[in-house]
Amino acid sequence: MTDEHTAAAARLRATLVDHGVFSRLGAGFWEAFLRGVVRAPDGLAFVALGPSDDLAGYAVITPDIHRLHEQVLKGRRLSMAMACAAGLARRPYLIPAVLRAAFRPQTSHPNLLRPQWVTVMVSSAYRRRGVAAMLFQLISAALHERGVEEFHSPVELDNDASNALQEKLGGTLDFVAPMDGVGHNIWRFHTAPLPPPPPGHVLCAEPGMPSPEAAR
Ligand SMILES: CC(C)(COP(=O)(O)OP(=O)(O)OC[C@H]1O[C@@H](n2cnc3c(N)ncnc32)[C@H](O)[C@@H]1OP(=O)(O)O)[C@@H](O)C(=O)NCCC(=O)NCCS
Repeated sequence: MTDEHTAAAARLRATLVDHGVFSRLGAGFWEAFLRGVVRAPDGLAFVALGPSDDLAGYAVITPDIHRLHEQVLKGRRLSMAMACAAGLARRPYLIPAVLRAAFRPQTSHPNLLRPQWVTVMVSSAYRRRGVAAMLFQLISAALHERGVEEFHSPVELDNDASNALQEKLGGTLDFVAPMDGVGHNIWRFHTAPLPPPPPGHVLCAEPGMPSPEAAR
């Protein structure tokens, strides 16, 4: 994920999610955060690009969301504080909620498997074209390669699209739990290696590699 991708992913996130304390701090805050995620030892992030290299979607998975937050903050407190302050300057009414969230440790659920799939966002222009499903395959294969057999994916109860996605991807609904005060379905997945591409398809052509046409 390049800096350009993180900026585009942050803009996408700010457009799609406008609820929750930190979500409402805007794209600048999320860009600072996602740059930290990409550099954090516990962050695993993938992007999906469109035909003109525009961002179609992105996904993040991590063993422990709270440890990831600590890693993002480590050595980046000043830039995160500045990004937060810029968001608060636009929406000062969020100040009490941000202070409360910063000083009250967020709750998780003790039965959650590690790792957890925490974010998948797909741009409206690319929905229902298998982008999230492809990001899922990449996540699953990357974890499989690292020897991880199973992971959990918490999804807010009222997020119909994402719950339908988890079911379609073969997740099993393990249990329902409140996380950060909001009810979540906890979906369980087995990891798997990437399936072979269909004949004639090239997943990713590097410079100097044969073009998809030439490979056919
Ligand atoms: C949920 C989301 C990531 C799905 O992305 P997507 O790329 O459109 O999903 P896919 O095309 O890979 O869909 C795979 C399957 O999931 C299910 N699905 C996806 N979106 C759905 C929707 N809106 N309604 C019903 N089922 C849906 C379908 O079964 C679909 O298969 P089909 O198209 O053959 O019927 C996307 O709608 C999104 O970004 N939403 C906003 C952000 C969000 O809520 N993220 C999740 C919480 S972090």
